[in-house]
Amino acid sequence: MSNSYKNKTLYRLFAVAPPGLEPLVAWELVQLGITPRLQAGGVSFRGGLPELYRANLWLRVSSRVLLRVAEFKALHLGGLAQKVARYPWELYIPPEFGLKIRATCVRSRIYHSGAVAERVKKGIEARLKRKLAASSPSMLIVVRIFRDHCTISVDSSGADLFKRGYKVGKGPAPLRENLAAALLLGSGWDRLKPVFDPFCGTGTVAIEAAMVLAHQAPGLKRGFAFEYWRNFDPHLWERLKDEARQRRIAPSEPIVWASDKAPGAIEATRLNVKAAGVEDWIVISQRDIKDLRPPGVKKGWLITNPPYGQRLRPSKDIRALYGVLGGVFRRYFDHWQMALLSPFPETPAFLGLALKKVTSFTHGGIKVRLFSTNPGEMLSLF
Ligand SMILES: C[S@@+](CC[C@H](N)C(=O)[O-])C[C@H]1O[C@@H](n2cnc3c(N)ncnc32)[C@H](O)[C@@H]1O
Repeated sequence: MSNSYKNKTLYRLFAVAPPGLEPLVAWELVQLGITPRLQAGGVSFRGGLPELYRANLWLRVSSRVLLRVAEFKALHLGGLAQKVARYPWELYIPPEFGLKIRATCVRSRIYHSGAVAERVKKGIEARLKRKLAASSPSMLIVVRIFRDHCTISVDSSGADLFKRGYKVGKGPAPLRENLAAALLLGSGWDRLKPVFDPFCGTGTVAIEAAMVLAHQAPGLKRGFAFEYWRNFDPHLWERLKDEARQRRIAPSEPIVWASDKAPGAIEATRLNVKAAGVEDWIVISQRDIKDLRPPGVKKGWLITNPPYGQRLRPSKDIRALYGVLGGVFRRYFDHWQMALLSPFPETPAFLGLALKKVTSFTHGGIKVRLFSTNPGEMLSLF
């Protein structure tokens, strides 16, 4: 950080993670030079505005970053609003903004989260001396009462971090951008070798792979809630974005391949790849999995999110499809590695490949497992 940076306040920050992916968010924070502390549902860390901005700009797997404003013991609903009113909410909620509150109570005397949200709103209104509607735009306040201990945080991200701003082309069952990043970063892929997604759908895995290879910050093309806070430092933010732009590299040749049998998927992928600005990295083609062959590179990673079908048990068709994928991979993809997401524990047997399970998380309400032929040190993270 340059010496021109004056605000030395240290904040208590929390990067929210999809359940099961907390270690991966912690690993990402370490890559940013930040010391993480693993917790259920996310990772806490201390930092000033530079760390807060960098976390929002660079984290690929986290869904939002919170800043803790208030913390106190809370045994009764009575008096809660008065305690809340002691904190400087005017720093985070500008006059033209409304309020959204998410409250949870766990193992505490206070158990009614709806009543908690109402009291917190009352307290903030008392402090700001105005009524706050859940209108747009609004700031999100996250309240957690755990073992009678209340913490209240303000969301610094705004829209979920997985909304990178490139999903213009739509398709069925797309993977969220942060889950595609989790598949890639948790797979054991070295973040240098070529990547091929043969079930590309809307292109999420291919685009996230290209963004990693290009050192492209996922948050460069969107806005954040912290830009509306009173402590917002536009010079610092511009500098961090400039640094991020300078870190971006251009490929000497494309090293990501995306294919799918559906013409609609190819169209959506083209639109999204362009919107993400990674068209120089990716070759897109329409192809059935049975015709899949490696592009002209010796080593790479086939990383994909294949169809699961509608049922919890795999249908005959899905098993057959996995069989084709495994067969093509064994026959033609010498020296390649593979990682994929699948809800079925028997996936390695369906594919006829020695895949290790790395971790599991939820995608679209289904528990999916991340399998890899070579998770390497990533396995020890989980
Ligand atoms: C679960 S979706 C992938 C979603 C994608 N990860 C995304 O974020 O949009 C599975 C994709 O596999 C494609 N697919 C199904 N059978 C295929 C086959 N035999 N060959 C190639 N693609 C196939 C479908 O068209 C669909 O786009």
